[in-house]
Amino acid sequence: MTIPKIKADEFTCLAAYVYDISGIVLDDSKGYLIESRLGPLVVELDCRDYLVLCELARTDARVRGRIVDAISTNETSFFRDAAPFELFKHKIVPDHIDRQNGPSPTLNIWSAASSTGQEVYSIAITLKELLVDLSPWRIRIVGTDISEAAVAQASAGRYNQIEIQRGLTDDKRHQYFEIQGNVWCIQDELRAMARFQQFNLLSEFPPLGKFDIIFCRNVAIYFDIETRMALFDRIANQLNRNGVLLIGSTESLLGISDRFSRQEYHNSVYYSLREDQ
Ligand SMILES: C[S@@+](CC[C@H](N)C(=O)[O-])C[C@H]1O[C@@H](n2cnc3c(N)ncnc32)[C@H](O)[C@@H]1O
Repeated sequence: MTIPKIKADEFTCLAAYVYDISGIVLDDSKGYLIESRLGPLVVELDCRDYLVLCELARTDARVRGRIVDAISTNETSFFRDAAPFELFKHKIVPDHIDRQNGPSPTLNIWSAASSTGQEVYSIAITLKELLVDLSPWRIRIVGTDISEAAVAQASAGRYNQIEIQRGLTDDKRHQYFEIQGNVWCIQDELRAMARFQQFNLLSEFPPLGKFDIIFCRNVAIYFDIETRMALFDRIANQLNRNGVLLIGSTESLLGISDRFSRQEYHNSVYYSLREDQ
């Protein structure tokens, strides 16, 4: 069976459904995206058309999950954009260290749209290189994402040849991963620093606790203004005093949230929670 062409009413129905379940906005120019990503599902599940797929998803959580996995853009890479990780290493973590005064320092980090885990493991590698001896530290890195498939890969910490080459030097690749056949597996020590959880940023936040640093990069770009405003307000609630937020290099909180102060360090931007919060 060939992939069916999507009709206007089918697009309207599916776009509204995707918005409801994920906050992802699909404007009229995204018909091709639904067709190319959900068309194969229409065929596989033997649905007559896209409306039937949409109906099925409303009653079957597995189909809903498949739609989310197919529609969400999981584009990511190790040390994506490089500069935020330099900022993290040379400014944000050292500032945090300066504020620690007990024998057992803590560091809580949340990657709020962790996709397939490259962001989280880039954080773990950076901390390993910066702190060297991690043993006195109580470090918690939480990665969450709406996509079940992405979370499963992140938890496994397994990457193919193409994924491993994006953002990692040869040295880092060999130092922090083991090769099993064609698959590169993150070292146990780094994997043990992180835990992953499937979680929709639109729903009530689970009891994740508070964080010192939150990475929420390259996800809010898929949301409308109202969703972004609500999201960053709730993210502010998850930060400890002196907490820091990193967003994507093309993103801004201007007109979205006044709960953060914009900070610059060597041309990199980050946001700190305002002191009166
Ligand atoms: C482009 S990736 C960004 C990954 C990583 N933060 C980075 O910058 O490389 C966007 C991720 O956001 C996730 N996502 C989209 N909508 C979401 C939602 N409502 N809740 C949680 N995650 C969501 C997608 O599944 C995808 O993995």
